[in-house]
Amino acid sequence: MNTIGIGLLGAGTVGGTLIHRLVTEHAAIAAKTGLDLQIRRVAVRDPSKPRTFDIPEGLLTTEPAEMITDPEVDLVVEVMGGQDPAGDLVLQALQAGKPVVTANKELIAARGAQLIAAAEESGVALLFEAAVGGGIPIIRPLSETLAGERLTRVMGIVNGTTNYILTRMSEEGTAYADALAQAQDLGYAEPDPTADVEGADAAAKAAILASLAFGTWVGLDHVPHSGISEITAADIRYARDLGYAIKLLGIAEDTPAGVSARVHPVLLPLEHPLSAIRGATNAIFIEGPAIDTLLFAGPGAGGDPTATAVLGDVIDAAREILAGAQVAPRIRFSEAALADFGGVPTKWYVRLEVDDRPGVLAQIAAAFGEANVSIKSVWQEGTDDEATLLIVTHRAPEDAQQDALAAVKHLDCVNAVAAAIRVESEEL
Ligand code: NAP
Ligand code: HSE
Repeated sequence: MNTIGIGLLGAGTVGGTLIHRLVTEHAAIAAKTGLDLQIRRVAVRDPSKPRTFDIPEGLLTTEPAEMITDPEVDLVVEVMGGQDPAGDLVLQALQAGKPVVTANKELIAARGAQLIAAAEESGVALLFEAAVGGGIPIIRPLSETLAGERLTRVMGIVNGTTNYILTRMSEEGTAYADALAQAQDLGYAEPDPTADVEGADAAAKAAILASLAFGTWVGLDHVPHSGISEITAADIRYARDLGYAIKLLGIAEDTPAGVSARVHPVLLPLEHPLSAIRGATNAIFIEGPAIDTLLFAGPGAGGDPTATAVLGDVIDAAREILAGAQVAPRIRFSEAALADFGGVPTKWYVRLEVDDRPGVLAQIAAAFGEANVSIKSVWQEGTDDEATLLIVTHRAPEDAQQDALAAVKHLDCVNAVAAAIRVESEEL
């Protein structure tokens, strides 16, 4: 039997489930893969903490660095999360010639280029299938199966918490705060859900998707992001009336000005496949000239699906250890231009509360016109001497759209820019 010793950094939602699977499914995994996967050590913060799954006696340690140098540990699984101390521990393992499997999108987005270089130098694998989309296989398809395709766009619902909140708000009229509390109870949200609702979690995933899809490393500082905390039930209703769903999307594109990655809530046509993705499900929509479109969808969070992705990487890395070969990175990154977001064409839905009197529409149209933004449609609902105006623009550079919004905000006849949300559709 081909025995591989595993050291785990973390035994929480993902790590605990992984340990349970490695113990209870040991024989089935061995029968299918020929591998005898043995847990050697498990590093945690607090060994006395009650755990959902039992951890075999004597495995717990609070000394992660010692665990990594343990000669019985052939392969390290990092499921502790965050950048510190996870980043330095992963680097230490790679430099010691031990392959690493991680589910940590924050770490890969922040230090992926450095860690991949360290893995290459040591000739070992650094695998992170679980870092984006939880249980959905997406890292391997992007870096291997689709390596020969000149992809044009990768667009996805990559945060389960926010999709769950938007689904509950739109289908059941649940209040934002209640839907967030439910997402936390169900274990989808990060310990501090700010990273979910303000888009930082999705931005880390979008940075990874963009880097793999276009073969150039896209740092987090090149991924502008915003979240869903200001999305209201009213806008979800208005959007639906106009033929759109509201989704938080990570969008990575190969534009004429360079690679662009961004995360924000968007109005998406109801007929788009991503509009049908409900609850905590994640989905990634890939476009390329030869492949046309591909949709990967499934559970994007939770112990079980994420542990399945981690386990797949563990089996892959274990096979490479046994093959004894120097491992080259699955994908090579070259320097390429990154697009300045200000120049990326975007399209907007704007909800204005305005005075209902002659000339108001003309002033607003002029403000958009002076910023070189063309209006596609206008819908108005009057209430006494006030009115709600819904404007959808044509596509124009992001900077021009921001200029138009700033100008409209300062008009005397505009009482409030109640909402401004980008629209993602094929129409110009
Ligand atoms: P979690 O439940 O908070 O578990 C973290 C584990 O790491 C705990 O066992 C904790 O020890 C240990 N740990 C944290 N800091 C440590 C330190 N300084 N030294 C030693 N041990 C430490 O986290 P999780 O939900 O399993 O997530 C783990 C990783 O998977 C994260 O990178 C996350 O982004 C990623 N991920 C999670 C999901 C998901 O649905 N949960 C999905 C995809 C990816 P104690 O138990 O003693 O506190
Ligand atoms: N908090 C994350 C989400 C977990 O809601 O998608 C998976 O990365």
